[in-house]
Amino acid sequence: MKADRVLEEIKDRIDIVDFVSDYVQLRKAGQNWKGLCPFHSEKTPSFMVSPSKQRFHCFGCGIGGDVISFLEQYEHLPFPEALQVLAQKAGVQLKTVRQDRKVQEKDELIRGALREATTFFIHKLQEAKPASDYIRKRGITPETAELFRLGYAPAGWHNLLQNLRSRGYLDAIIRDAGLAVAGEKGMYDMFRDRIIFPIMGIQGSVIAFGGRARDDSLPKYINSPETAVFKKSETLYGLSTAKEAIRRQERVFIVEGYMDVIICHQFGIKNVVAPLGTSLTSGHLQKLRRLVREAVMVFDGDNAGMAAARRALPLFLQSDLHVRILLLPGGEDPDSYLRKYGGEAFTILAEKAQSMAEFLVPPSKGASKNALQDALLVISEAPDALVADELLLELARITGYQESVLREKFRDVRRRKRERGEGRALNRTHAIRDATERLLLSAVIAFPEKTDDVIHAVAPTDLRDDIVAALFRRIAVASDRNNTASILEGAGEEERRLYSHLSVDPGFDMAHVDRIIADCVAKIERKKLEDRLHQAREAGDIHLINAILIEKKHAIKGKRNERL
Ligand code: UTP
Ligand code: MN
Repeated sequence: MKADRVLEEIKDRIDIVDFVSDYVQLRKAGQNWKGLCPFHSEKTPSFMVSPSKQRFHCFGCGIGGDVISFLEQYEHLPFPEALQVLAQKAGVQLKTVRQDRKVQEKDELIRGALREATTFFIHKLQEAKPASDYIRKRGITPETAELFRLGYAPAGWHNLLQNLRSRGYLDAIIRDAGLAVAGEKGMYDMFRDRIIFPIMGIQGSVIAFGGRARDDSLPKYINSPETAVFKKSETLYGLSTAKEAIRRQERVFIVEGYMDVIICHQFGIKNVVAPLGTSLTSGHLQKLRRLVREAVMVFDGDNAGMAAARRALPLFLQSDLHVRILLLPGGEDPDSYLRKYGGEAFTILAEKAQSMAEFLVPPSKGASKNALQDALLVISEAPDALVADELLLELARITGYQESVLREKFRDVRRRKRERGEGRALNRTHAIRDATERLLLSAVIAFPEKTDDVIHAVAPTDLRDDIVAALFRRIAVASDRNNTASILEGAGEEERRLYSHLSVDPGFDMAHVDRIIADCVAKIERKKLEDRLHQAREAGDIHLINAILIEKKHAIKGKRNERL
């Protein structure tokens, strides 16, 4: 049976109220059931289960989903396994998932080995005075060390290896977990005489390690290689400990190193993550974008720091993540800065983080021709023409250039880029637009009571994606918008697949559904304007162009005010 059919079957047969009652004491509250949230600690119940929607949602911490995502999150099971457990309970056959069983078992073993290794390293830290001395000298308190689960890998070639073997782990698993290396004379430990920084996935389970030398020997850090459970380009150090603070403060600091994350946290700045010694990737930013709209990149204000900041800018534009740049003075990193000047000084400095335009053409220095040209080049990476336009306006304000002059220069930059065949920006527009439409659909599926508002603002004919539009139409006319079967009656395979996918993995934070809907609607309206502008330009209709530009300005102003 296909996975999405299985999903439907499972949901038909297992009632979410019954199921969740095994884990949480629920009481009837109107149409719904209410209880203490199992995902965060609370004294008054804000965890709701809806029998009609077959979904749960916590108004305290924002976690929500269906019966499968409940099990996934409660038991920390990967999706296929949660599916398997429920399929069994429901008595549904599950062929597709069984085929992957070997792969899953191996991943589970790798995770097990990583868990054991973490415990081992923590234990060894307690025994090794020089290692705990080092941690103390770096200004890390025992509480912080415990929170980040710091450890120590003892000197010697086989300490961890022997420990894991004695617990029944095969060499192949230990190797595939990135914990040991196969040499000519056999296997040996990857981490030897190093302070261990466990790297955790977003849910807090250990997926890899970084190991720092205790002195100046090189390499300073060794990191786990990529494994089945660890993708460097998608992993951010500190995310699991930072995610609540990121949501709460609606902002994330991106710093460079392990130590920076840890010391920031200790100084009360908890919304902090770092890539793993590589540059930022779009994978990192996508992860963050699900939690937050605004990022502050923190760099050393030297040339290398500036260059790294500059390189990351196009990624932010492409990821639709608003970015500011904080350059620290005097060769400090956040770790050394905080220990020298304290948390308050850092917070004050952070308020002065530069906008992208300010960073590209520093107002104090006056805009050099090169800086301006480079700024235009960065802005040309924005897939959204209206975002590019906002940046051009800011650039005009800073440099004193006239808007029209900058627009003209900007068109030149774009044209030259096109001639060089760098036409990627346009495709990205489509990708972003599709993502917006899907997100909107996803919101309506999770909260059917919002359907009328959404359809009032965005007609299905405004949507570019046929499948999304078709599903919108179905939901709009459905007699019961909570009833999946009636919505999908007569729907094609693709529609069904997208619907199941979005209802299982909504891809947004349920607590912020209204803001997400408003964002998506605004974006789609702006795209519509942009399309009309494009057509008007093609037709050379000056009056129309002007009229649309005025409309556009209002739209942008409206959006700014919304942000305030
Ligand atoms: P830094 O050299 O700035 O180190 O590298 P740090 O984090 O400030 O550590 P301390 O303060 O010297 O102890 C920044 C990040 O780059 C990666 C690590 O993730 C590190 O945290 N890195 C650095 C490596 O992966 N390998 C290296 O050899 C050096
Ligand atoms: Mn440092």
